Amino acid sequence: MILSRSRASRKPAPDAAGEGGQGAPPRHVAIIMDGNGRWAKARRLPRLAGHRAGAEAVRRTLRAAAKLGIECVTLYAFSSENWKRPEQEIADLTGLMKQFLRSELDEIHAANIRLKIIGDHHAFEPEAARMVDAAVEKTAENTGSTLVVALNYGAQDELARAMRTLGERIRAGTLEPAGVTPALIAAELDTANLPPLDLLIRTSGEQRLSNFLLWQVAYAELYFTETLWPDFDEAALAQAVASFGKRERRYGGL
Ligand code: IPE
Ligand code: IPE
Ligand code: MG
Repeated sequence: MILSRSRASRKPAPDAAGEGGQGAPPRHVAIIMDGNGRWAKARRLPRLAGHRAGAEAVRRTLRAAAKLGIECVTLYAFSSENWKRPEQEIADLTGLMKQFLRSELDEIHAANIRLKIIGDHHAFEPEAARMVDAAVEKTAENTGSTLVVALNYGAQDELARAMRTLGERIRAGTLEPAGVTPALIAAELDTANLPPLDLLIRTSGEQRLSNFLLWQVAYAELYFTETLWPDFDEAALAQAVASFGKRERRYGGL
């Protein structure tokens, strides 16, 4: 007789030592925060108003994630393809990033949250890049949860950089081609040492990854919602986490 699988039998990923059991929240949630422009358009407001409202949604979501006991939150804030946007919009987004750090960093630090960046934020204007560096440094020793922000991030670029590093090691003779394993590649990615990705959320109804965490998504649960990012809130996150709780994760096994 085939028994139906309950959440209790949810197996940890091969590399997910210590994952919680039944009803445990996802350890690592990543969010593609999409729909700021459409939110603004629906209100006949400039796109900047949508991005401002999006920053408010980030504040709400971080507080909600802490309440839900999520260990690591990764936010897609700016992709390596977002440079295609008009200069003014890039300047507005950079300005909002600086404003966010000015207003939120103390609270983030006080909450014992460690800030980590994936991608290369040094492509932003120097003052913004310096502020990000300072924030990372300030929170580096924090031991609570981790907030990962993807800035000028693209998964294909991340993989290319990792391959280059491994290629250099092969050329130097310290690594055999046969020694290139998934674990070795994972260790060279920007996400090395983070918990395995459990849940990927994308807002605004789009159902694509837009070059986000292509490697890490291998066994993540995907959650798409029509909610536009500026409308995302505690209830929306709780709903995504509840959906995750009902998923049956098999990792290819039975
Ligand atoms: C997400 O909202 C924010 C960033 C990509 C920086 P969008 O700006 O992509 O909003 P839409 O997709 O145009 O509605
Ligand atoms: C993905 O959203 C990037 C971020 C949310 C930062 P986009 O709005 O850039 O994605 P596409 O262009 O619709 O795929
Ligand atoms: Mg978009």
